[in-house]
Amino acid sequence: MDGFKKRLRDSVQLRLSVTLSLAILIVAVVAGIFAFVSAFDEAHEMQDDTLRQVAVLFDRQQMSLHYPAAQEVDGDKEESRVIVQYLVDGSKAIGNDDALMPLPIPTILADGLSTLNVAGEDFRVLVRTTARGERIVVAQETGARNKEARESAWRSLLPFLILFPVLLLVVGDLVRKLFRPIAALSSDIDQRDEQALHPVDERNLPTEIRPFVVAINRLLARVALSMENQRRFVADAAHELRSPMTALSIQAERLAATEMPEPARQRLLPLSRGIERSRNLIDQLLTLAAAQSSSDRPHTAVSVHGVYRRVLEDLLPLAERKNIDIGVESIEDVHVLINEIDLLIVVKNLVDNAIRYTPRGGWIDLAVELVQETAILQIKDSGPGITVEQHVRVFDPFYRSLGTDEAGSGLGLSIVKAIADRTGIRVQLSFSNETKKSGLCVSVWLRQASVSAPARR
Ligand SMILES: Nc1ncnc2c1ncn2[C@@H]1O[C@H](COP(=O)(O)OP(=O)(O)OP(=O)(O)O)[C@@H](O)[C@H]1O
Ligand SMILES: [Mg+2]
Repeated sequence: MDGFKKRLRDSVQLRLSVTLSLAILIVAVVAGIFAFVSAFDEAHEMQDDTLRQVAVLFDRQQMSLHYPAAQEVDGDKEESRVIVQYLVDGSKAIGNDDALMPLPIPTILADGLSTLNVAGEDFRVLVRTTARGERIVVAQETGARNKEARESAWRSLLPFLILFPVLLLVVGDLVRKLFRPIAALSSDIDQRDEQALHPVDERNLPTEIRPFVVAINRLLARVALSMENQRRFVADAAHELRSPMTALSIQAERLAATEMPEPARQRLLPLSRGIERSRNLIDQLLTLAAAQSSSDRPHTAVSVHGVYRRVLEDLLPLAERKNIDIGVESIEDVHVLINEIDLLIVVKNLVDNAIRYTPRGGWIDLAVELVQETAILQIKDSGPGITVEQHVRVFDPFYRSLGTDEAGSGLGLSIVKAIADRTGIRVQLSFSNETKKSGLCVSVWLRQASVSAPARR
């Protein structure tokens, strides 16, 4: 019950449905009671009228009463029978059996309608003095009258019984339809990733929620601006740090080339490595800032094998140093629709990781295959792989798995994710050897560039 109250408090849709349903129920009950009572009274009114008509007819036709011997008459129902008798003479009455012999009605009764208890039964009785001066009684059992009146009153409730569920259905449907744009809007916003800060389409929304959506759009614009400012700050800072770092690196190289005592050389080595790591971090920061920037880059048909070749030219010395067997496995090349620099950065970071985290003497395979109109790029290695629990975390900036001796800034996969989010490509991690749960396999889904596809900006 508490849960329902909470839902009622929280949900406008539920409150509206319940309030309208209750209002309909109350109106239906009040109208039903009113209709029942009126129909009941009206039925009694008509029955009284019938008694009056019988009396008038008797009077006008100057009828006299006979009491024939008991015999069956068609359509004569005992309980609804109308009895006519003289008031003065209890021995003269209409009836065809002993039970219908004149009712013992008190002769002091005044003219007009009344309800009497006669011999244990309730009767509606009309007394009239005819033009001939006789006093006649027209009577009917109230039990039968009430039964008929009740039946007619129940019939008057029928429209309400039909109308009530129909109105409930109409209200439920109407409320659901009214709130459908809001449900569609929230599912649209829910499905967005964190980079999608474009304004919500407010054209087909009801005027009541449009101001709210306009406010959300203004907030989205402010958030996008603030994120862009942050990105620009990181990019500017990295850019500013780059020149002094390059100068430091050159100085360290020059220092290494000069004559110096062995202990000094021993100390220079970690210094040079530190400078190199810092340079790498600054380069990765700059690449990440560029990857996250929303500015559009031209999309063209890019050869996947061409990109593999360029990346291998850069990174082959690294692989050879670790005696790693690296090569392109697929024979058929595929052209994909993307910005070439973006694809180069993605593949370079993935191959760089594969070389770095694969132990000496291992292997790395690059491949591409076409499934319908989608190109699937795969970079597989024979290294330790990444556990399923870490699959999401490794894409976070500066996240590095524990237990790796390799130097790195922890930004490579964040750069891949930033490009994937911006361009709509899909990246998925798995094991290259599923049974042994070892080796990383990175799959990248890309749209194939059709031969006639124009370049997109
Ligand atoms: N091929 C791989 N095999 C095993 N672990 C990997 C592989 N690729 C990435 N990882 C793990 O994921 C972490 C994050 O990788 P990411 O490329 O983002 O950063 P990084 O390689 O440490 O630094 P950067 O690439 O910026 O120089 C790595 O520290 C590593 O632990
Ligand atoms: Mg990396």
